[in-house]
Amino acid sequence: MVSRYHNFENNPCSSDSRDWVSFPSVQRARNLSNKSVTLLELKPLTDQHLPAVLELDQLCFGGLWTLADYQRELDSPNSDLLGLFVPVGLQTLVGFGCLWAILEEAHITVLAAHPHYRRQGLGQTLLIALLQAAFERGLERATLEVRASNSSACLLYQQFGFKTAGRRRGYYQDTGEDALILWLSGLQHPEFQQTLATWHREAEQRLTTAGWNLEVNLNLLPPEGYSLTMD
Ligand SMILES: CC(C)(COP(=O)(O)OP(=O)(O)OC[C@H]1O[C@@H](n2cnc3c(N)ncnc32)[C@H](O)[C@@H]1OP(=O)(O)O)[C@@H](O)C(=O)NCCC(=O)NCCS
Repeated sequence: MVSRYHNFENNPCSSDSRDWVSFPSVQRARNLSNKSVTLLELKPLTDQHLPAVLELDQLCFGGLWTLADYQRELDSPNSDLLGLFVPVGLQTLVGFGCLWAILEEAHITVLAAHPHYRRQGLGQTLLIALLQAAFERGLERATLEVRASNSSACLLYQQFGFKTAGRRRGYYQDTGEDALILWLSGLQHPEFQQTLATWHREAEQRLTTAGWNLEVNLNLLPPEGYSLTMD
């Protein structure tokens, strides 16, 4: 994934996780729940979520961004930082993604799903939400950089029509690895709203199959033909 700030230092994750239930608690809640589904809430991240974001960043990227980097995104009117939460007990962050709007482009700067809950549709759900946010902002294209060796992420982006437009040689300072530059255009084409609606439906079905019940609490307009309850 791109580092907007080109910061590859390993940041110790915050030890201040008192407000967050542990991941085993989520697992227990899932196992012991009378219902076969667990609520999964999609909503914007706020300052109070920063310790959890840093923990998940550490787990998924080995410390890509600092607290100050995430704070800058939260404070910026040009960024959308979204999280997926399991609201058991208090709440647990299980995924997050960020986009940075610049000119007519949405730069997807971060996308992560907790390792315990991968391959269940969390990544797709976050990516679709970011694309919807980009659409709502009137942006024309989405772009991102991804490690050439990150086949999981590359396959995810391919599913949503991202195409490779170039390669930045030696982009990642930690390993000297190349970054692939991916693009998705046509976000403001008339049919894109329908495409978003279809993706939303498919991702929600995938989550349901994996035992999640998605609740979306974003201040975004739903794409035409899509009827999730939103604030
Ligand atoms: C990339 C990442 C966000 C995907 O999250 P996820 O919740 O597992 O993704 P999903 O369950 O929504 O999977 C969607 C698609 O991604 C691809 N994919 C994800 N994990 C994969 C894997 N281990 N192997 C092959 N394909 C994979 C598949 O195409 C998958 O669709 P499918 O299951 O129908 O085949 C997650 O692996 C992650 O956080 N990785 C570490 C951080 C990172 O690399 N982020 C991306 C930086 S660009």
